[in-house]
Amino acid sequence: MTGRFVVIEGLDGAGTTTQVSLLAQHLSRRGLAVVTTREPTDGPVGRAIRFTLRAEEGAAAAAALPWLFAADRADHLARTVEPALARGAIVISDRYYHSSLAYQSQGMGLHEVYALNRRFRAPDLTILVDVPVTVALDRIARRGEAREIFEHKAKLTQVTAAYHEVVGLLREQGHRIERVDGTTSPESVATAIARHVETLVSA
Ligand code: TYD
Repeated sequence: MTGRFVVIEGLDGAGTTTQVSLLAQHLSRRGLAVVTTREPTDGPVGRAIRFTLRAEEGAAAAAALPWLFAADRADHLARTVEPALARGAIVISDRYYHSSLAYQSQGMGLHEVYALNRRFRAPDLTILVDVPVTVALDRIARRGEAREIFEHKAKLTQVTAAYHEVVGLLREQGHRIERVDGTTSPESVATAIARHVETLVSA
């Protein structure tokens, strides 16, 4: 059997990383083979992207990000996602092309970003963890780390609107995207996500 490809999306501070790991624990306990992964990846292109996101000296310009994210995605699919799916694993990715559509579409327009990304494999299921911008900013502030270039109110407000548009666009193309309220406890968000994923793995 080929595997299943599940993507968890949301604003910075929505809790996608926590939810990827809670979902992986849940599925592993059921005896399923699970691979967790993320974008930007830890590979060569992903590392270059993180440099830019932290606005480090010598990093590529932010204007290069739509192509860097697409190149990182091609690398991610070839090296991690496709081999794991071929082994029959459930691959859970912390972000995928929905992030490009939501975060890069102010710079170059949603349809252009879509044109760069439409060739990539569609997930079997995407979960959008919904939190208001105020909650996201509060959580980012509590982490106490240096802010990345997108972790600001005006940007996250635009990204929220863009995610909304992206959900509409992709659902029209037949994609399965479920929205989950991310403001409750990590455990109850995880339960809501698991309920959606169960329909996929028991099918
Ligand atoms: P994030 O998941 O926050 O990584 P980390 O936890 O290591 O900081 O992702 C980094 C940022 O990259 C986040 O603000 C979303 C952004 N991003 C894009 O702008 N486009 C993309 O295609 C992806 C995958 C992420």
